Order: sequence, then structure tokens, then C-alpha cells
Amino acid sequence: MQAKIFFGSTEAVTDTFSERVSPYSGEVVSTAPICSAEDARKALKIAQEAKVATKASTLSQRCSWLIDVAQKLRLNKEDIAKTLTDEVGKPITFARVEVERCIETLKLSAETMRTMHGETINTDAMPSGKKTTAFFTREPVGVVVAITPFNFPLNLVAHKLAPALVAGNTVVLKPTPEAPLTAYKFAKLFIESEYAIKDALSVVYGDAEVGSALITSDIPRVISFTGSVPVGEIITKNAGIKKVGLELGGNAATYVEKSADLALAANRCALGAFVNSGQVCISLQRIYVEADIYDEFASLMAEETKKLVVGSPYDDDTFMGPLIDDEAASRAMGWVESAIEEGAVPLLPPHREGRMFHPCVMANVTDDMAIVCEEVFAPIVSLVKVDSFDDALPRMNNSPYGLQFSVFTNDLKLTQRAISELDAGGIVINDMPTLRFDIQPYGGVKLSGVGREGPRFAIEEMTEIKSVVIC
Ligand code: SIN
Repeated sequence: MQAKIFFGSTEAVTDTFSERVSPYSGEVVSTAPICSAEDARKALKIAQEAKVATKASTLSQRCSWLIDVAQKLRLNKEDIAKTLTDEVGKPITFARVEVERCIETLKLSAETMRTMHGETINTDAMPSGKKTTAFFTREPVGVVVAITPFNFPLNLVAHKLAPALVAGNTVVLKPTPEAPLTAYKFAKLFIESEYAIKDALSVVYGDAEVGSALITSDIPRVISFTGSVPVGEIITKNAGIKKVGLELGGNAATYVEKSADLALAANRCALGAFVNSGQVCISLQRIYVEADIYDEFASLMAEETKKLVVGSPYDDDTFMGPLIDDEAASRAMGWVESAIEEGAVPLLPPHREGRMFHPCVMANVTDDMAIVCEEVFAPIVSLVKVDSFDDALPRMNNSPYGLQFSVFTNDLKLTQRAISELDAGGIVINDMPTLRFDIQPYGGVKLSGVGREGPRFAIEEMTEIKSVVIC
């Protein structure tokens, strides 16, 4: 068996690798190369050498490149979706959705960059000003390092590669070791495209040693990372003077108010709490419900949850497959058991078979329980009875995280308050906080991160403004 690396456009094989085991079947499904710090440095050097030619390429070529990859992805949709399901256990229906989202992310990045130009500046607006020709342009930063997680192993790669490359940068990608073949197949579409820029993309795999070599190097000008808070902290401390974009965790919350459509709210909350088995940074974890409607909402929520099909990720009807590994499942069950010992009441009996973790709705929780205040990243949601929005607001905001919140209400004043007083990168009205349109700015405040993704916003992060005055 061998595993494959891309040193620029050159494919290399290594017999140093780990086996990737399906979280559903336990069978070996792929191999993840274990690269060395030396490999990481080699990839960076290739990226550095390719950056002049990449910057000199036309935007037309780079847009054609992304569109070509999007078209090939569509042709290979079923194969890539199946690979994704094999490697991370995502139900096939949602793996197909992820491929579609990825196609859109590629197309959007190309469309956005076509019209992302600089502006003229009115220098004569300054008291000391004289009329000059002044403007700014956007230039690629040079080399971007992209480090991506397992939960959306295709689309979150696209959210980094597509803006970086279309803006004229070169990229070294370190994808999650949990989905090496998904990343390999995606990267191969870029590298084999007739529009590809030679050596503009490298792919290396590995752990902290490789990550450290990538982030501490002077070569990259941007590190774009999606993953955990502890790793985000390490990157921040060690990256030196370069831009760092961090999409980290969250413990997303919603408020359900009495004017809301409760059936809709329960349906969307069940989806938001349990999609991808809760392994989403904006997974709904805390539901604050107004006391008058609490009992009705709790029973609707239990009914909606019972409808969700847990089972083989290869069945079209399956809503939830396994958690990524045994450790994640044990940790989640440990948190549920501790919460029950501390007085929480499960609305449905907690149930786990190995990595298969059934959706869990907890009532009678307190603000200090781990299932409320930690990021659980598992299919566990808590219901909290509150008197009013004034009661819910400080409890929702009392979190080290601030990625996304939502509110279910038909009250306009409350909507306005929620938008201005909830402390997060994104607010959703009348849907789950687990809502992301790939065109939107996406990112958090507090420990949830720094910077925004979404093609336009990522391109802003991955370009430098050059200011010009012609006197
Ligand atoms: C994430 O987990 O941060 C990504 C969510 C998404 O793209 O839907």
C-alpha cells in the first residue's frame, strides 16, 4: 500500500502512512501519508517559487481553472460523495449536498474575483490635498497555508483553495488526516486541469510537526485554519508576523419566543442540533424556550427527534451516521452521564452503540453543565426554560464562543434586539443557527475565531491592498 502527496504539480508516493478506517464499518478505506517537517518545507519552497508565475497569470485563466474543477466535480459527484462517506461516515445524502455546495463555492469564488477591483480615492478631499490620480489595487499575498478539518472535508477545503488561487496566490494545503482520499481526489482535479498553474497547489498531510513547520515558516503570508480552539491558540502564538484567519468552535444557541411558529421551530431545531451528528461548528447546542410554551415545545422537539433515522450512512434515508471516532463517542456519553448525575433529564433515553450515537435532548439543565458551556460537537442539545428574552440574553451571551445564534419569533422589536444584542459573528431569524449560505460572511467573535470566510471575505483576507498616487 502507498499514499500520495502533491509537491506542487508533481505527485509523490510514500510508504509512510496511517490507515484510515471507516467510522461506520471499521474497515480500512484509505491511507493518509505521514509527512515530515522536511516535506512541509519542500512544499513551501515550491509554493514560493511558483508565486511569481501565479501572480502573473490572468484572472481569466484562474476563473476558468475553478470553473473547470467545478465541472469535473459534478461529473465525479457520486464517486467523491461516496469517498467522503467512506472516510468520515457522513450520510450519503448529505455528502452529495456537500459536493453541490463545493461546486457553488468554486463558482462563486470565480464570479466574485471577476468584479473585485480596487477604487479611486479622492485625495483632494483632504485639507492638504491636491488633485492627484489616486487609487488602490488588490494584490495576492503570495503563499497561503490552508489547514482543514474532518467535518466538511470537501467544502471547507474549497472555501480556502478557491479564494486563494483565484486571487493569484499559491497554496500549501494540509487537509484533515481523517479524509485523505477526499482531499487527494479534489486536489487532483485542480492539478490535472488544463487551466492549472504549475506548482500553485501542494498537498501535505501530517500532525503537529507538519503543522508547526507550515505555520512558523516565513514563506506563507496567510494561515487559514479551521479547527479547534487549542490548535487555533497554538497557531496564534507561533505564526509570527503574518495574517491568521481562524474558524474555530462554538456552542450555538437559539431563543424560542411565544409568537414563533413552534412546529417550524422544533423541526428546524432538531435538524440544527443533529445534522452531521452535531459535528458542525454552528451545531445547535442550547435552546432557550419561553416558559409559557416550554412544555409544548419540548414535546414537539421530542417528536421531531424521534423521526430522525440513525443508521448506515450509505442509505439514502439515513439522517445520522456515526461520530468520527470512539473517543468522540465516549466523550459525548461521558458528558451526558455527568449531566444526568447533576440533575438533567433526557427527553429520550440516551443510546450509543460504539460510534453510533443517537440524538439526545436534555431538559432540566443548568448553565454550568458541560453539555451547555463546552462545545460538545456531538448530537446533544439542551432545553432551558426562561422567563423572557431578558432572562435568555445574558445566558446566551455568557459563553467563551460567539459563532452563530438564532431567534424564533414574529415580534419585530425582539428581532431588532436580537440582531443588536446577541454577541456572535452571525444571527439568524426564524431558522436554526446551523444555517450557512456559502456566499455569506462566515466566522465568529471571541474564541470562535478571527476573520471571515465566504468567497468575497476570504479574498479580502488573502489579498493585500496596494495604494497608488500619481502626482
Ligand atoms: C463549520 O463547521 O464551521 C462549517 C459549517 C458549514 O459550512 O456548514
